[in-house]
Amino acid sequence: FADVDLLVVGAGFYGATIAERVANELQKNVLLIDRRNHIGGNAYSEFDSETGIEVHRYGAHLFHTPNELVWNYLNQFTAFTDYKHRVYSTHRDQVYSMPINLGTISQFFNRRLSPDQARALIADQAAEMAGRHPANMEEKAISLIGRPLYEAFIRGYTAKQWQTDPRDLPEHIITRLPVRYTFDNRYFNDKYEGLPVDGYTAIFERMLKHSRIQIALGVDFFSLKSTLPAGLPIIYTGPIDRYFDYSEGELGWRTIDFEKETLNTGDFQGMAVMNYADETIPYTRILEFRHFNPERSYQTEKTVVVREYSRSAKRVDEPYYPIDTRRDKEIFLRYRERAEAEANVHFGGRLGTYRYLDMHQAIGAALKAFDSRIVPHFTEGRAIG
Ligand code: FDA
Repeated sequence: FADVDLLVVGAGFYGATIAERVANELQKNVLLIDRRNHIGGNAYSEFDSETGIEVHRYGAHLFHTPNELVWNYLNQFTAFTDYKHRVYSTHRDQVYSMPINLGTISQFFNRRLSPDQARALIADQAAEMAGRHPANMEEKAISLIGRPLYEAFIRGYTAKQWQTDPRDLPEHIITRLPVRYTFDNRYFNDKYEGLPVDGYTAIFERMLKHSRIQIALGVDFFSLKSTLPAGLPIIYTGPIDRYFDYSEGELGWRTIDFEKETLNTGDFQGMAVMNYADETIPYTRILEFRHFNPERSYQTEKTVVVREYSRSAKRVDEPYYPIDTRRDKEIFLRYRERAEAEANVHFGGRLGTYRYLDMHQAIGAALKAFDSRIVPHFTEGRAIG
């Protein structure tokens, strides 16, 4: 560690952004480690050896952002395709467009509705909850979109995601359910959207290609923690509860089991993401990766699909979505207090801050931390943590 100025734990977007900025802007030496055998964190993707199709190993990753700073930053390392994400949902052998929009509503109620008529219909159906405070997630959803649409598109999907009856889930899980009274079926509303032309991993290779960045893969921080020089500044993007040896309790996460299959057809479902709303189907959705890149000339004999099954994570599983119950919030606050007392460690990223972050948010947060924490540390000697 003689010539290491900064240790970064985790080669996802948060850690990679910090490493890139520190090497390029501050000309400091960075050691970037990851316990996985690849860079990219959860945004990692690989070209499937049999079909050549780019597969996102940790679930579908769609890049979108309203943040011009983040967009310009990332455009230094990749061009983006003009892919615009759209999602469909299968319910009782019919396919509907998501999020719920005028097309979905007209199809579901089997009549042509103007925006005003659709608004009035949904308001009428939601009125069964009028004057009552929702006692659980189901009642909250009904108060937002009425019972028929809730039962068709939300109930089964939510029950599968949480492995819990929505009547047993707290109402605060949802604050809103987007309903569009237009035929616009774009999934994201952000100004900037697209997929990296050469795939996700190429972004990381370009960000991290610098003589001052050394990368060590397959290295767990906790196996070298005791050998680190005292006071070495550290950016830690692993799970915050693990850092403190779970001493304040374990934070709850949901994970996803991915079931990958190569099929002997050029097109399985005609689009990238198909949700399955009904509880009789055990998976929540099927991804078909070739449709993320219609601009590529993939072979037409085979396709790769991935079925997703959601469940709560155990310690050995990949933590994906914070469950964030009241108990989790209390535990996290105790860890955050302890993290603030660690002068030479900055906790960042989704695992280090126990927050679901989209990619653009992870990059945006890292760019902010670079300005507010890391530059002052190296230029004025301020604590990094
Ligand atoms: P990330 O998890 O990427 O990186 C942390 C790294 O730290 C990991 O590589 C891990 O191995 C490493 N690490 C942990 N502990 C360690 C230790 N002890 N020692 C060494 N290394 C250690 N976002 C979006 O914008 N659009 C999308 O469509 C999606 N889709 C999506 C699907 C699914 C299923 C998930 C779970 C997430 C998304 N995301 C997303 C979110 C996206 O994955 C997220 O924003 C980034 O991964 C955040 O980057 P981080 O660097 O914070 O964490």
